Parts: sequence; structure tokens; C-alpha cells
Amino acid sequence: MTAFDDLRHLWLDRIAQASDEASLEELRVAALGKKGEISLKMRELGQMSAEERQVAGPALNALKDEVNSALVAKKAALGDAALDERLKAEWLDVTLPARHRRQGSIHPVSQVTEEVTAIFADMGFAVAEGPQIETDFYNFDALNIPGHHPARAEMDTFYTHRAEGDDRPPHVLRTHTSPVQIRYMEANGAPCRIIAPGRVYRADYDQTHTPMFHQVEGLAIDKDISMANLKWVLEEFFSAFFGTSVKTRFRASHFPFTEPSAEVDIQCSWEGGTVKVGEGNDWLEVLGSGMVHPKVLQAGGIDPNEWQGFAFGIGIDRLAMLKYGIPDLRAFFDSDLRWLRHYGFASLDMPNLHRG
Ligand code: PHE
Repeated sequence: MTAFDDLRHLWLDRIAQASDEASLEELRVAALGKKGEISLKMRELGQMSAEERQVAGPALNALKDEVNSALVAKKAALGDAALDERLKAEWLDVTLPARHRRQGSIHPVSQVTEEVTAIFADMGFAVAEGPQIETDFYNFDALNIPGHHPARAEMDTFYTHRAEGDDRPPHVLRTHTSPVQIRYMEANGAPCRIIAPGRVYRADYDQTHTPMFHQVEGLAIDKDISMANLKWVLEEFFSAFFGTSVKTRFRASHFPFTEPSAEVDIQCSWEGGTVKVGEGNDWLEVLGSGMVHPKVLQAGGIDPNEWQGFAFGIGIDRLAMLKYGIPDLRAFFDSDLRWLRHYGFASLDMPNLHRG
């Protein structure tokens, strides 16, 4: 019995001192595994006399059970300790203030495009889009600007490159959003009521011109649409956009794709060196417009004997400068962070739908 007592102390001690689950497993194998010390002792029972076995058998069994229970208990204790360690190590202070993150801002052009879209959507205009690289057909011919027409030269068009020997007319960077009129008419027919905001390109650069800028095209076609509807829609738009009632002045003008054509000014004052829209006795030109030319309707697949409508093109950047007091157009596209932080909008600023 003393021999088993020694064995018992030995294994219980080792188990008590095991510091992790791996060494505990080694102990289990060394004691109770196939060739473990206690297992071997059990095997020796076979060579004992019946009397000896009667004493040694139950004692060995009890030892085996005891060592087994000690292993299980120690394993549980080690598991608990490991969990405690992890909980301590992975402790998180949820009361810490959040790390500061730089926030971007909405560019004035994006903001104004949203505002314009919201106001026209309110008047039943859907949004259409077209490609920025256009064929000369959509940018010019279909809009009644033939090859020899001075408007082509006046537009300072950017032409794309054609491979040598390729005689097809080159594509152009669209010089205005008007080609979307044709694309939309072709695809959807009449009646229609759309705006088409987007980028346009002309080779021009000074305080009020950049080679890329933004326009929003308007097009409304129905059986009995007139210049009166055009004037109402524009005044409604400007009053909503500037948040005050704005008068417009129509000046006779000429565009190949409208007949009659008008340039439209909005009422403003120049007092103190800054423009204020919707007051005063001065006028500021903001857009071109007119009744869609019959040839343009035809090019869009619409019968000019049945349908008529108006079209207009407004400079979006110009609108943004006027509404938000931004003096230099070129800065719009410099990507200067200080400028963007100053003139940019918070992402949750909602489009302005106030009526004057
Ligand atoms: N496309 C013209 C421009 O770029 C504007 C315009 C649009 C005029 C529609 C009349 C009708 O200046």
C-alpha cells in the first residue's frame, strides 16, 4: 500500500503543478495512457496471487479514479484561468472618446446639382444622362449645327484622336448637354419632361471659364407647350433655388437648335461689390433657351407637326458661385483642401426646397 501511496502523492503533485493544458495532457498519457505508469501497474495485477490481487486491485482502481478526477478538475481550472487571462488582456474601455476622423465635404457643384434636381423633380422633370465623349452627330449635326456652321468653331471643341487613315469624323468631348436632348427623344419619344445635368468641355480658361464645367439641360415636349411655360418653369426654379422671388428677363438671341431663342437674365443688385439675386435693377445672364427647332425634333424621331416644346441650358457652376458667393470659378477644380473645407457642404445638408 505504501507503494501506491507514493504513486498517489507523486501524480497528484505533478497534476497540481501543471501550468497549462498541454503539459496536463502529457501527464495524463504518462499516468493513464496505454503505457502509463498506473496502467502498467494494473497489468501487473495478472501476475499476482489471488490474495495479493484482492488488496491491490481495488486500491489501484481507486488510485486510477482519483488521478483521473484530479486531471479533469485541473483541466477545468486551467481553462477558467486561461479565460480570465484573456478577459483581462482583451479588456476594452468603452468610455474612451472616439478617435478623430477627418470628414470629407460635398463639393458645391454636387450640392447644387442635387438642389437643382430636387427642384425640377418637384415640377415633374425626370433626370436623363448622356456620354461625355460624343459623336459629332449628337453634339452638332442632330442639333442643327452643320459642319460649316460657325457655332462649331465658336465652341472651342476638344476633338479626340483618330488613327492615321481613319477618315471618320473624330468624337468630341461634348461642348454642351444638348446632345442628351436627341438621345432622350430617340429613346423615349414624346411627350417628355427631363433635365440632364453633367460635365461639358470647351478649350477656354480664365476667371469665369474652365475647360471642364457643368450644365443642366432642360427639355419639355408636349402638344401645346409654349415660351410662357418656359418662363414660368424658369421663374419657379430660380425662386426656389435662391429662396426669394426672382424675376427673369428674356432677350432675343440665336441658337441653331431653338427657334425662337432667348438668353435669360435674372434680376440682381450689385450693391457693395457683391451680387444679390432677386433684388435691384441689374440683370445677370444665366442661361440659353428657346423652342426646340423642328429639325431637332425630327432628328430625335419626333414629328414636329404634332409636338413642340422648350429647351434650356443653365451653367451649374455659375449658379453655385451666385448662390454661395464663390468668386473664382477656377478654384472649383483645384482640389485645394482648404477651399473644399470652406465651401463644401456637410453630407447631411438637404437640398433647399424653400419657395420665395
Ligand atoms: N446648349 C447651349 C449652350 O451650351 C444652351 C442652350 C440649351 C440653348 C438649350 C438653348 C437651348 O450654351
